[in-house]
Amino acid sequence: MAPGGQFLREIHVRIRLTWCTLAFGGLLVLSGIRGSGIGIGATPSGAVPQTLRMAAQSHHLLMGTAADAGPLSDKLYASTLQTEYSVLEPETEMKFGLIHPEQTRYDFADADKLVNFALANGMKVRGHNLLWYNQLPDWIVSPAQPWTPAALNKVLADHIATVVGRYKGRVYAWDVVNEPFNDDGSLRNYVWFDKPGIGFAGKGTRTIEQALMWTHAADPSAKLFVNEYGAETMNSKSNAVYAMAKDFVRRGVPLSGIGLQLHVTPRFDQDGSLNDLSKNLRRLAALGLEVQFTEVDVRERDGSGFSQAEQANTYKDLLDACLRQPACTLFQTWGFTDKYSWIPESNPGFGWALPLDKNYRKKRAYFAMLAKLNSRGNDGPRPSRSR
Ligand code: XIL
Repeated sequence: MAPGGQFLREIHVRIRLTWCTLAFGGLLVLSGIRGSGIGIGATPSGAVPQTLRMAAQSHHLLMGTAADAGPLSDKLYASTLQTEYSVLEPETEMKFGLIHPEQTRYDFADADKLVNFALANGMKVRGHNLLWYNQLPDWIVSPAQPWTPAALNKVLADHIATVVGRYKGRVYAWDVVNEPFNDDGSLRNYVWFDKPGIGFAGKGTRTIEQALMWTHAADPSAKLFVNEYGAETMNSKSNAVYAMAKDFVRRGVPLSGIGLQLHVTPRFDQDGSLNDLSKNLRRLAALGLEVQFTEVDVRERDGSGFSQAEQANTYKDLLDACLRQPACTLFQTWGFTDKYSWIPESNPGFGWALPLDKNYRKKRAYFAMLAKLNSRGNDGPRPSRSR
């Protein structure tokens, strides 16, 4: 061997090591910035992630929850929220009736608390919602004088400009329109649509289109969603959502994706529903849209061994359906502790719907999701679905 060969080899090795260090460092930086991972199921230090938030990062998946401003003062509530979740969605605080209680008065205090909390903890905020038939203030529902479409049009335009404008750059995505369809796929009849509506009564999805355009004008970088319940599987409602989405994409209406609420019972956890859900995700993804699971809860009456087991399986299988579809960018539950859940009020007798119990103890459902996130092979990068 020529003198200096060893030296040259060492240089070579050193260069290769340096290259590896740089590449590895680059990946670390990338994983920090984009939430990308260098290996599924392991952090850069090699440890298995112990939180949903961390474990989901390696899949480029956002882990979200609805949250309320009141319980933020509850230490366990706040610490769980910031540790386990990368997205926070105000559960009620941005709804029309709460944020705009009187015609000339907005009340941003509670929404601000949640937005500030989220941003201080490196979380994204999902705004919910701008146009809905429910939780409207009296001044909209029972006006002194009946509304004209022109007057109502101005009210909604101003509302969207004001609320979206206030949170511009801070709310990353909006449920612009919530629950616009009936189960048979027809459009719901209510004040914003046709009673009297904002001027597009009888014109199909024009009201939704207008709301998307106003929102886009107020914050061009926000992702915009139409959010529905009962449109998860293949049925009349999901067909109507799909037809609307396809039409909007074709005509360049600013729609980024569809939110699927997924308030379900463990009965959802069957091959038929899960296959249908995946099929529905596929057709929406094929339009180039994102799909987000926005309000997942799996209601049970109690925490018996049987309930815990079937609930854990349902959460795991829903998460799996999302993980298998790169266009599914968010898995979000409607709250995280049974201490604060809308389920007992909407479904009396079912007090056991979320991944943590009333005392913040992690249920099997929590561990099943964590294990699912930590067990998969390399998914490869999930492409950005921004439109
Ligand atoms: C619910 C909240 O969780 C409750 O606290 C409130 O009293 C009523 O609204 N679909 C939605 C959510 O889009 O806004 C609803 O939230 C649950 C159903």
